[in-house]
Amino acid sequence: MSEANMKKINMIVNDKTYSIEVDVKDALLEVLRDRLGFTGVKCGCSVGECGACTVLIDGTAVNTCIYLAVWADGKKITTIEGVSKNGKLSKVQQAYIDEGAVQCGFCTPGLVLTTTALVESGKKYSDEEIKREISGHLCRCTGYQKIFRAVKKSLEK
Ligand code: FES
Ligand code: FES
Repeated sequence: MSEANMKKINMIVNDKTYSIEVDVKDALLEVLRDRLGFTGVKCGCSVGECGACTVLIDGTAVNTCIYLAVWADGKKITTIEGVSKNGKLSKVQQAYIDEGAVQCGFCTPGLVLTTTALVESGKKYSDEEIKREISGHLCRCTGYQKIFRAVKKSLEK
């Protein structure tokens, strides 16, 4: 790690500001998970294929394994640790529990965040659109039907 490659960034993670020096080659995943301790950001594939490392960046679901930490400078990030408020699960988290959509849980943080982005968009989604929106997330346990129902339930007004 040479000094020339280091850059100071400021980012807001779950409503708290962090000023941190990062290597320009660091993925945001490594910085969030290994340096800041947000271990709810999971590393499944490291190549943008599984969705386990998803967080919200300014409200958009992003795979952090293929997003450089320096790009997060000045951005607002939400990880799974920031989804519940005052000890209360979010509507999306509760829907995943109610529908039995959490088994080993490895895919769950990323899916909950993608679902949160869909809810916060305020748009209506057809079944086909929901399937497309969550298609970037791999789950080895549930067979996807329960996840699909959890997303539908989350989107109910
Ligand atoms: S770890 Fe980022 S998409 Fe798989
Ligand atoms: S619940 Fe195990 S990978 Fe999805």
